[in-house]
Amino acid sequence: MNWLEERLPGIGKVVKDVKEHPVPSHTLNVFYCLGGLTLVAFIVQVVTGVFLAMYYKPTPEAAFASVQMITNEVRFGSMMRSIHHWAANFMVIFCFLHMMRVYYTGSFKKPREMNWVAGSFLFILTIVMAFTGYILPYEQLSYWGAVIGVETAGALPVVGEMTKIMMQGGITVSEEMLSRFYVLHVLVLPAITIAFLVAHFIMIRVQGISDPM
Ligand code: HEM
Repeated sequence: MNWLEERLPGIGKVVKDVKEHPVPSHTLNVFYCLGGLTLVAFIVQVVTGVFLAMYYKPTPEAAFASVQMITNEVRFGSMMRSIHHWAANFMVIFCFLHMMRVYYTGSFKKPREMNWVAGSFLFILTIVMAFTGYILPYEQLSYWGAVIGVETAGALPVVGEMTKIMMQGGITVSEEMLSRFYVLHVLVLPAITIAFLVAHFIMIRVQGISDPM
């Protein structure tokens, strides 16, 4: 620690603060663990997702075959895919339950309104990550799921048509659609999620956890 302190003055204070921060007794129950569980599910997604990305091929011709190869031929492939699938489901469920906890304990009220808004973005990002992931195996369910998603976005007022064309990669569904969903799923959405998570945790730390009702 002394070695680090000499090179990064102030680091000792940060570590001490993190180590000695007291946890209020009213948060020692499962309802206050739901945010942490959502975070664990997200970390599992990142780790297993990196593994899957090494084998997945984001083209309409090769996508389904590459997923079959991961499931049947790659060592631990089936296990990694299943963990990715279930952690995705749990992330959505935990995130929703966490949001309900925050709502029912009134923790969205002053001074935490901005964190509620950041959380709402995290919820939308979680749903969109789940949706874009659902498309990637490019089987019948995935394809028609994508079409429903694209049509739903197309029904938005004013920006609908433009959003639809951007998602499809043309005025009708094109080859580009899958690679767009892929880039969103593995790069854009996780990066934005991490940025929002950092803001979420800084606000929790600065404001402290809410008092009991
Ligand atoms: C990826 C999604 C999310 C993660 C990983 C996450 C993580 C966390 C964690 C670890 C806490 C500490 C307390 C606890 O665990 O209950 C927390 C608190 C909080 N979260 Fe989230 N959260 C997420 C989504 C949301 C959503 C969807 C909302 C609401 C729309 C939200 C609003 C809040 C608020 C207001 C607090 C402060 C609660 C208090 O002081 O009692 N979060 N979050």
